[in-house]
Amino acid sequence: MINLPTADLHTHSGITGLGAYRPERVVSNDELASRIDSSDQWIRERTGIIERRFATAEEDVVTMGTHAGLEAIRDAKIDPSEIDVVIVATFTHKYQTPSASAEIAHLVGAVNASAFDLGAACAGFTYGIGVSDGLIRSGNAKNILLVGSEKISDFTDFDDRGTAFLFADGAGAAVISATDVQGIGPTVWGADGSSRDAIIMAPDSIAAGLQGVPSMLTMQGQQVFRWAVGSMGEICERALSAANITADDLVAFVPHQANLRITDALIKRLHLPDSVVIARDVTTSGNTSSASIPLALDTLRKSGSVRSGDPVLMIGFGAGLAFAAQVALVP
Ligand code: UT7
Repeated sequence: MINLPTADLHTHSGITGLGAYRPERVVSNDELASRIDSSDQWIRERTGIIERRFATAEEDVVTMGTHAGLEAIRDAKIDPSEIDVVIVATFTHKYQTPSASAEIAHLVGAVNASAFDLGAACAGFTYGIGVSDGLIRSGNAKNILLVGSEKISDFTDFDDRGTAFLFADGAGAAVISATDVQGIGPTVWGADGSSRDAIIMAPDSIAAGLQGVPSMLTMQGQQVFRWAVGSMGEICERALSAANITADDLVAFVPHQANLRITDALIKRLHLPDSVVIARDVTTSGNTSSASIPLALDTLRKSGSVRSGDPVLMIGFGAGLAFAAQVALVP
């Protein structure tokens, strides 16, 4: 049997740049509450959300992802031509094909890059970190642009009491590169397709029985809430132990910004010391799915709450039911 050669291995990978894009339009709870017989108070108490951002008609996954991607490339201090792969985690790109990543690669000037989209919904960014880590350490890439970009407002039924107030738009990005020290811990990940209908965007919205409503997102909120609170704590613990650190060594916890009550339950379960900085970006950004973790990490970094080299625990979870967690060092 022939033994095929591997690519030239890189020993280590790490996050070397971050970028963010938040649409300008701020949407208050009051603006959404009247259509769903809700209130600002209910939304704040049940989710922590005070306001969120919605994209304009001219903005989409590609335009927002391009802004975030360009910022991450500048932050990483590389030339776009040095990027080997562009990965876009999204479930709200307007075309089934071609990919958002091919367009974003073109628009950021990543002329030498391969490009593909990654479908893991709210776990998309942390899935992408795991994939990027593997691609780099196997020698198949040296610099990767990973983007999480969502325009969920295009797929939200604003008369649905279960989702109208929760989701929002935005984009976050990271550059992952071959580095001198390992900056990304092992990824702990999985999925459970038996819960397909828990969060679903089907042409007929079959899950909600809304025949004829095209491609709207529906969610069994309580089921997802119970799953996240009941199961994601153990995944976080496994990611910490895979990284060979404990909660006491962490500088920050950046979970998917799904609902502040889920974040609070995970903090309790993990016994995080008060010194650990908690990402609470959901309060002003809403739930932006694959964009929520890079947006939240970017907020912590720009505010000086975390510094280069600090270990942060990230966990993404959502439709699929897919999840992925890892410890990474702040660029
Ligand atoms: O990002 C992907 C992963 N997604 C998530 O992690 C989301 C997980 N789920 C959630 O965050 C929560 O389930 C929601 C925020 C979506 C909903 O909160 P909840 O606490 O699970 O609400 P519920 O469906 O259990 O309803 C509680 C009560 C009910 O009233 P009663 O029966 O207690 O009198 C509902 O009728 O709140 C009522 N209710 C509302 N009231 C005002 C339900 N929706 C609304 C609403 N406004 N929009």
